[in-house]
Amino acid sequence: MDIPNLTSPAQFIGKQSKDTISFGSGQPDLPPPEEAFRGISMRRDMRYGMIQGEEALREKLSREYSGSTAQNFVITNGASEALDLLFRVLPRGNLLLGKPYYYSYVPIIKAGGLNPVCTELEEGRINMEDFESKVRECKAVLINSPSNPTGRVENIKTLKEIEKITHDLGVYVISDEVYKDLIYERENYIIKGEHVITVNSFSKTYCLCGLRVGYLWSPDKSIVDNCIEMKTHTSMNTCLLAQDVALNTMDTPKSYVANQLKIWKERRDFIYKELLGLGLDLWKPEGAFYVLPKINKPREFVWRLYKQYNTISYLGEWFGAPDRVRFSYALSVNQIEEGIGRIKKCLDGMNGK
Ligand SMILES: Cc1ncc(COP(=O)(O)O)c(C=O)c1O
Repeated sequence: MDIPNLTSPAQFIGKQSKDTISFGSGQPDLPPPEEAFRGISMRRDMRYGMIQGEEALREKLSREYSGSTAQNFVITNGASEALDLLFRVLPRGNLLLGKPYYYSYVPIIKAGGLNPVCTELEEGRINMEDFESKVRECKAVLINSPSNPTGRVENIKTLKEIEKITHDLGVYVISDEVYKDLIYERENYIIKGEHVITVNSFSKTYCLCGLRVGYLWSPDKSIVDNCIEMKTHTSMNTCLLAQDVALNTMDTPKSYVANQLKIWKERRDFIYKELLGLGLDLWKPEGAFYVLPKINKPREFVWRLYKQYNTISYLGEWFGAPDRVRFSYALSVNQIEEGIGRIKKCLDGMNGK
C-alpha cells in the first residue's frame, strides 16, 4: 500500500462525509449553551474594536481571576492566537515543554523565534527531575494540564513545585488551560504567580471552536502591552460579534459544564475499556477528550484506517510520539462503538487475520 507523506493534520481537518468516523479533530460535538446566542444582534456597531478586546468581556473575565482587572486580559482569536502572540513577545531563548505535546506548539514556538526544549513525559506526566535539570536554561515553560494529546492531568504537587521553581528562577510559565473545565478525576489546580500567563478559550468548555474567541491573562503589564502591540499589526481586533457571544456564555449555569462532564466521562470509560480490549497499550485519560495508544506501524495504520475504513485518526508523530496514534473521542458512544469495530478490522488486516 502506498502511504503518502502524512506531515500534518491539515490533510484531515474538515474532511467529513456521511459515513466518516472522525477520531481526528478535537472539537466537541455537543451543543453550545442556549445562553450563548441570546439577544445577539447582527446590527451591532461593526467599526474596528479595541485591539485588547471588548471591555465588558474583559471586565467579566476579571471576576474569575482574583485580584485582576480588565487590564490583565487580551481577547484573542482562540487560544491559538494567544499562544502565537506570546511566543513572539516573550524574552528570546529556550522554552521548555512536555513531550508528547499539542501539535501546534513546536511550529509556532519556532515561528516566534524561540527554541523549544522538551522534557519527556513519564506515563503522560511531567518528571520533575528532568524538568528541574532543564528549566534553568529556559526563559519560559509551557504547561498544558489536562493535556492534548495525553489526556493526563498533572498532580497538584507537581504544579506547586513548578510554581515555586519558576518563581525562584524568574521564569515565565504559560499555562494553557483550554481543558481546565474537563477534568474527570479531581478539581483543577490553577497555577499562580507573578510570572504566570494563563491562556484559555471558549472553544472546548462551551463547544464553540468555530467562534474563535480565547484570551490571555497576565499580571505582567509589559506582556499584556507587547501582545496588544503585536496584535495591532497582525489580526487587529477579535471579531466583535463573536465576543458578544463569548460574553453571553459567561452567564451559563454551572450545571451546563457538569452535564457535559458526565457525557465526556461516559465516552472516556467506553473508549478506554474498548481499546484495552483490543490489546492496546494506553494511558487512562483523566481530562480533555483524547487517548494516545501505542500502535505498530502507525503510519500504515492511520492511512489504512482512513482509506479502507473511512475513519480518521491522527499520527502520534505530529505530537512528538512516533510510536502512538491519537484518537479524539468527541463522538457519541454509538459512533465510538462503530469506530472501534473499524479499528479492530484495520488492526486484524495489518496482522494478516
Ligand atoms: C492544548 C490546546 N491548546 C490550544 C488549542 C487551540 O484552541 P482554540 O480553538 O481556542 O484556538 C487547542 C485546540 O485543540 C489545544 O488542544
